[in-house]
Amino acid sequence: MKEKIGIASDHGGFDLKEVIRKDLTDKVDLIDLGTFSTESVDYPTVIGNACKDLLAGKVDRLILLCGTGIGASITANRYHGIRAALVHDEFTAEMSRRHNNSNAIVLGGRVLGVDLAKRIVDKWLVTDFEAGRHEKRINLIEEITKS
Ligand code: RB5
Repeated sequence: MKEKIGIASDHGGFDLKEVIRKDLTDKVDLIDLGTFSTESVDYPTVIGNACKDLLAGKVDRLILLCGTGIGASITANRYHGIRAALVHDEFTAEMSRRHNNSNAIVLGGRVLGVDLAKRIVDKWLVTDFEAGRHEKRINLIEEITKS
């Protein structure tokens, strides 16, 4: 079955979200989880809601953005089961899938150029988790927030 990808940002990531959303429209099954304008919103709320959607199975993976990517990243990684990777290049985007099984990629809308951001997302979308020895490490991470 085709993966469902959710995309969410605050106002700081809104412009880049729109660019990525338009770029991905014909490529993947994409759900826009907001925000829907440049009006100021609290990133923990909009990003947290997107994380809840992932954990509820409404989407399979998330593309998250805020101004720097930092607030979105800190927020997303508070949710048990979310493995959010804040990345600035294609290599770490790829490795976050291969070794860390990232189920969310986080981008800084005020940090990245448009072309680089698109390449990062494309790389992340097509890269699979390698499992094997990395599976155990992912499970060890999940143990930390279990209780
Ligand atoms: C919003 O001004 C900004 O603080 C937010 O987008 C993000 O960069 C926080 O980490």
